[in-house]
Amino acid sequence: MKIGILNTGNVGSRLARAWAAAGHQLKLAKDGEDRKIAPLLDELASEATLGTIKEAAEYGDALLFSVYWPRANSVIEAAGKALAGKVVIETMNPLGVTDDFVHFHDHAFMRESSTAEYLQERLPDAKVVKAFNLLAAPALESDAWSSSASKPSIFYATDHHDAGQVVRRLIEDAGFTPVNAGPLKAARQLEQLGVLLHHVAENEYGGDADLLKLGVSVVEAIPGPIMRERIV
Ligand SMILES: NC(=O)c1ccc[n+]([C@@H]2O[C@H](COP(=O)([O-])OP(=O)(O)OC[C@H]3O[C@@H](n4cnc5c(N)ncnc54)[C@H](OP(=O)(O)O)[C@@H]3O)[C@@H](O)[C@H]2O)c1
Repeated sequence: MKIGILNTGNVGSRLARAWAAAGHQLKLAKDGEDRKIAPLLDELASEATLGTIKEAAEYGDALLFSVYWPRANSVIEAAGKALAGKVVIETMNPLGVTDDFVHFHDHAFMRESSTAEYLQERLPDAKVVKAFNLLAAPALESDAWSSSASKPSIFYATDHHDAGQVVRRLIEDAGFTPVNAGPLKAARQLEQLGVLLHHVAENEYGGDADLLKLGVSVVEAIPGPIMRERIV
């Protein structure tokens, strides 16, 4: 399908590469300087072209909205009405930033909302789907999990069933297992889970940088008869 990448950054570049390999056609837009994605455009010359945020929004039947949260409003404004009626996959985590450029989890915002709900409110005619917010970008590379026992699940949440089905396929095309987390409001828990992963990286692994090693997976047990017994 035709996919517009609204911001080809750390996350967007990995998914662009994966979706190009799966046979999709892409228009890549950078929030910032286009020259930073020149090597990727060379690499994906047969599958991808460069566009502005607006051009990529117009091009895609599905859009990846993977934007640094403090820049979200600017990108929404640049995309204009082009996102109406389209599947918009958003990957953001609500990281606040201080005047000194220190990033922090915006717990006050997270209590009442999520980046996904905010985007849906700003884009009422789009079909917003939360996904891909829990894996550090390098872990989206296809060979990152080659020697691991399991691959991380990719959770998605949306109020639009048809958009959810499209995103399931795109998650599979990127090499992961889709897991339906429910309506868009579940994005709140997915964003909170990102905070938990940061804590785990900090405390159980060697520090914040070790977030790169972590993925969350749903594991299905096969219950035998004994597990069905109840103590009454
Ligand atoms: N990176 C990850 O591992 C990861 C994983 C899961 C979800 N996410 C979420 O997905 C979205 C996209 O992430 P990304 O890493 O792919 O973004 P990115 O493209 O690397 O950065 C997005 C934009 O914000 C700018 N920017 C980044 N950090 C900045 C800073 N400290 N101060 C000012 N401008 C800054 C970048 O400018 P320049 O290009 O000029 O630097 C770029 O224009 C974010 O909402 C993020 O929370 C990220």
